[in-house]
Amino acid sequence: MKRIMLALIVTGTAAQAAVLVGDSARGAALFKSQNCETCHSVNGEGGKMAPDLGKRSSRGYSPADLSALMWNHAPQMWSAMEKASIAKPKLDSQQAADLFAYFFAARYFEKQGDAGRGRHLFVSKGCSDCHNITSTNGLGGTPVQKWDAVTDPIELARQMWNHSPKMRETMTAKGMKLPELTSVEMNDIAVYLQNLPQTRNRKPEFAPASPTTGEELFQAKGCIGCHVGDNSLAKKTSLRTASEFAASMWNHSSKMKQQSELRPEEMRRLVGYIWSLQFANDNGTAARGQKVFEARGCGNCHDQGSAPKLHLGDRANSYEMISVLWAHGPTMQKEMTSKGIKWPRFENTDMSDLLAFLKTR
Ligand code: HEC
Ligand code: HEC
Ligand code: HEC
Ligand code: HEC
Repeated sequence: MKRIMLALIVTGTAAQAAVLVGDSARGAALFKSQNCETCHSVNGEGGKMAPDLGKRSSRGYSPADLSALMWNHAPQMWSAMEKASIAKPKLDSQQAADLFAYFFAARYFEKQGDAGRGRHLFVSKGCSDCHNITSTNGLGGTPVQKWDAVTDPIELARQMWNHSPKMRETMTAKGMKLPELTSVEMNDIAVYLQNLPQTRNRKPEFAPASPTTGEELFQAKGCIGCHVGDNSLAKKTSLRTASEFAASMWNHSSKMKQQSELRPEEMRRLVGYIWSLQFANDNGTAARGQKVFEARGCGNCHDQGSAPKLHLGDRANSYEMISVLWAHGPTMQKEMTSKGIKWPRFENTDMSDLLAFLKTR
């Protein structure tokens, strides 16, 4: 038993070596300094000539999806930049991770959500019994206006986690059951709470801590005791959006006998770790990736001597592909045009598959 656990932990660490976590505040600053804001807005703020990157639509939500999206749109973006005389940005992979964190905080990757449904749920799930919007009521719930959690998904997950045992106790005493929340319901509630006149203008935040220190905490807090084997969080792909995470932490307490409270910095560490598990390899398939590599003509240059052989190793990750796009893309595009190769497009799992393949070379 001991040996198996050790092996799991070691594998986990190796898988994360290539996973960077971003910081939304740094990402927001980059969005300005790299001129993205000249053309794009986020939730209405910024330029109008390119898509609003804060608009909710059911897009992909992994770093691989963002990377694919940027590759697909790059040629149009470059010509827009040339027309507007804006220098092409340079992004290293940490900066790409910071931008991802910023878009994540801006809810770019969440499903649309419905504030009207959220308002009803806030009542029907019992939240409004204790929580008013602006004032404290008899039951002492913090007024929504004062919640840090409205704009910080990590704080929301932490509050839901710390909060549920006490609420369950209160409700059991009254002969009620703690209501479970689906991620769709959680999202609706969040959309409702973020669009109140009192909260609308607050800046989104998302800054998980390093996966390595989070993994230590995951062990120290005893999470690893239950989350091994089939119950390992690395096997889930249901914890990717902020709403999924908050809802699962809320529903979690009924699965556990004892649960310790988490401090803000502890939750940042855990989220960094669990998040890196979710995105460590994006479940790409190397065999399918090889087909993508061939079909997009990458080998025509990279295996024929007109471009360097690709031995990316750990650099074969989504953030690095964003960095590569901006550093080498324009030169690649010129070469492609002269060789009659079409600029590649990546759909569905193409990017994750390609990365899985590039890792093996
Ligand atoms: C000169 C204007 C301009 C600048 C500067 C610019 N973009 Fe774009 N961007 C565009 C245009 C135009 C499109 C839409 C292209 C298309 O429809 O294919 C786009 C598309 C995108 C998309 C895909 C959007 C979607 O949902 O379909 C992403 C993501 C993106 N840009 C990110 C960025 C980032 C990050 C930066 C800064 C590093 C940036 N852009 C800088 C003009 C720009
Ligand atoms: C039985 C009363 C009660 C109910 C019902 C209740 N809460 Fe609370 N809630 C509290 C109390 C009391 C606090 C503050 C005490 C604390 O720190 O635990 C709180 C704090 C919170 C916070 C932390 C706010 C912050 O940033 O400081 C959040 C988030 C929250 N509740 C969400 C909810 C949601 C969502 C629901 C409905 C699913 C809900 N609560 C239902 C009593 C309640
Ligand atoms: C006593 C056993 C136990 C401990 C200790 C434990 N969990 Fe869990 N956890 C569970 C069970 C059981 C589930 C439900 C799994 C399911 O429904 O698939 C769960 C679910 C979860 C989920 C949601 C997974 C999903 O797919 O929705 C998260 C996130 C989570 N746990 C995090 C933690 C963290 C962080 C800790 C340590 C602070 C921890 N757990 C400690 C038993 C435990
Ligand atoms: C028409 C030729 C051509 C095609 C097709 C091509 N590339 Fe490139 N690629 C290049 C050239 C040339 C460079 C070096 C550009 C430079 O120096 O800025 C490069 C650079 C790169 C780099 C950076 C290398 C490093 O080690 O950092 C990566 C990664 C890359 N390409 C991936 C791809 C992928 C993936 C495909 C297929 C989707 C592809 N390339 C298709 C010509 C091509």
